[in-house]
Amino acid sequence: MKSILILGASRGLGRALTEAYLAQGQRVIATVRKSEDMAPLQALGAQVLQVDLADPASVSGLAWQLDGKSIALALYVAGVWDGHAAGVPPTQQQFDQVMHSNVLGFMQALPQIAPMVQEAGGVIAAFSSEMSLLGSADESAWLYRVSKAALNMAVASACQQWPGLTLLALDPGWTQTDMGGPGATVPLAESVRGLMNVLTQVQPEDRGSLWRYDGTKTELLGA
Ligand SMILES: NC(=O)c1ccc[n+]([C@@H]2O[C@H](COP(=O)([O-])OP(=O)(O)OC[C@H]3O[C@@H](n4cnc5c(N)ncnc54)[C@H](OP(=O)(O)O)[C@@H]3O)[C@@H](O)[C@H]2O)c1
Repeated sequence: MKSILILGASRGLGRALTEAYLAQGQRVIATVRKSEDMAPLQALGAQVLQVDLADPASVSGLAWQLDGKSIALALYVAGVWDGHAAGVPPTQQQFDQVMHSNVLGFMQALPQIAPMVQEAGGVIAAFSSEMSLLGSADESAWLYRVSKAALNMAVASACQQWPGLTLLALDPGWTQTDMGGPGATVPLAESVRGLMNVLTQVQPEDRGSLWRYDGTKTELLGA
């Protein structure tokens, strides 16, 4: 049986997707960065790995930990928010924290998991955001926007590297999680349902797109 790998599953969208795929009877491998977050997911039936995606040494053990697994779908969900407006310079620490979790972790994890997902004819999707798009730029959340734009480029640029792999970005919408905050408009269950529905429709020709939970799609690779 093929597995679904969810990177960043301790809470929010990663946790909800883990629960939803387990409820479908799927085999789920979920990663968390803190040891205390392992047991609740194990209790749900997931295989749980401890990986800090911002730490290359921690990510470097991923392929070894997944050895022998056939992975049909891998979701890079981990992400960190920074809401400082454009013009407010991020500190080195803020910059590193956001860029390491949102970009470096994906660039470290992708080469480790791509061969096994490609072999399974599978899909890898990175959680991006509408806020990544140049066309939707405004002054809010400067560093977060930069990080998700960089993540999009990491996805688009890697598409040629593994021709048998369907690699794309997802936008969950403004979702009711810790990150989404109290003003978020999309209930968590609706975002999860939409994302899972989108992922059942993904075809190889969708490589390099940013696909929103409601089914709307933006090409990252150009026409
Ligand atoms: N919610 C929204 O409105 C929204 C909109 C657009 C895009 N997104 C994107 O969707 C994804 C999930 O968002 P969310 O709303 O579920 O966020 P969330 O509730 O804040 O949860 C963030 C998750 O990422 C994990 N994470 C962060 N850095 C990590 C690291 N270095 N190693 C391992 N795990 C790490 C967190 O683990 P810990 O518990 O250990 O911190 C947590 O599980 C993010 O990439 C986010 O940018 C969200």
